[in-house]
Amino acid sequence: MKNEQGPIYILGIESSCDDTGAAVMADDKLLANIVANQDIHKKWGGVVPELASRAHQQNIIPVVEAALHAAKISKADLAAIAYTRGPGLPGSLLVGGSFAKGMATALGIPLIGINHMQAHILAHFIREERSIPEFPFLCLTVSGGHTQIVRVDGPLEMTVLGETQDDAAGEAFDKAAKIMGLPYPGGPMIDQLAKTGDPSRFKFPEPKADGLNFSFSGLKTSFLYLIQSEEKKDKAFVDKNKADLAASLQFTIVKILINKMLSASKETGIKRLALAGGVSANSGLRQAFEDLNSTGFETFIPPFAYCTDNAAMIGIAGWFAFKAGIRSDITESSQARLPF
Ligand code: KG4
Ligand code: ZN
Repeated sequence: MKNEQGPIYILGIESSCDDTGAAVMADDKLLANIVANQDIHKKWGGVVPELASRAHQQNIIPVVEAALHAAKISKADLAAIAYTRGPGLPGSLLVGGSFAKGMATALGIPLIGINHMQAHILAHFIREERSIPEFPFLCLTVSGGHTQIVRVDGPLEMTVLGETQDDAAGEAFDKAAKIMGLPYPGGPMIDQLAKTGDPSRFKFPEPKADGLNFSFSGLKTSFLYLIQSEEKKDKAFVDKNKADLAASLQFTIVKILINKMLSASKETGIKRLALAGGVSANSGLRQAFEDLNSTGFETFIPPFAYCTDNAAMIGIAGWFAFKAGIRSDITESSQARLPF
């Protein structure tokens, strides 16, 4: 008999980009969260889609087995399988999606397709010893592919109020890092370098974007132009100024993000602000959010493990969807672009 009395066990599978993840939830509690990172992309300076899907194929079975083992349950205990339906790289999504469909069919249990961006937000609700945001709240979701301000009225009620018109915030970090000759992904390295740098050393213009939308491509261009013009005078410019460049860039990105969140709060009257997505691992952004608490806001920052891509967030999103009676058909296709 399957879990009629006990907790609802859900297997979450994440394969939207270059991390293969599997997690097991017992209701909203996380029992296991396994991620296999793909180092193969480092030497190419970015994710190579074909290599990513091949690595997902190699990783998916061991990662799922490791998650079930760590959770100390058997696959017969599972009530449902939740998987990332999109958005993401088509080939990567296909591997996780096909695996989830095959496994759900073999076990005769429901399949639930999850929106990766909504899952980043729902990671806040994985039950642990920390406070979780009450509804409604505003979430700044910042990752390698997206930058959004989302109004969250319930686990399944989300509205995008603004988003980037070009590059994502994570892309701005990664592209600037690449210009500086740093390996992919550059965001964490910029963060590290910024710790010892002067954030006011270099000034970058803040790109203009309407309403609650963002634009980061102009910032990348002005960063590139600064380096090109300084390198004409001194070939070792980047090497000598790494920390200040990183700190100034990070300062500008964080300022753009925080200012838009403040505008969103003013427009909606909502003072509960949350962070989500890979860039929420950034220490400058976390600190800026933290600082808002002393000025009348209530902020929520996810633990590090749930910032960058992981399957725990797919598992918790699956749990909410399962309870709401949402089920997917195995003919449902993965979607590289998947609106809310
Ligand atoms: O959410 P995520 O893991 O994958 C996507 O869905 O895109 O986000 C990855 C992004 C990358 O751009 C990476 O450089 C950025 O998050 N990132 C950071 C930091 N850690 C990860 N950016 C700035 N500072 C960090 N500490
Ligand atoms: Zn993500």
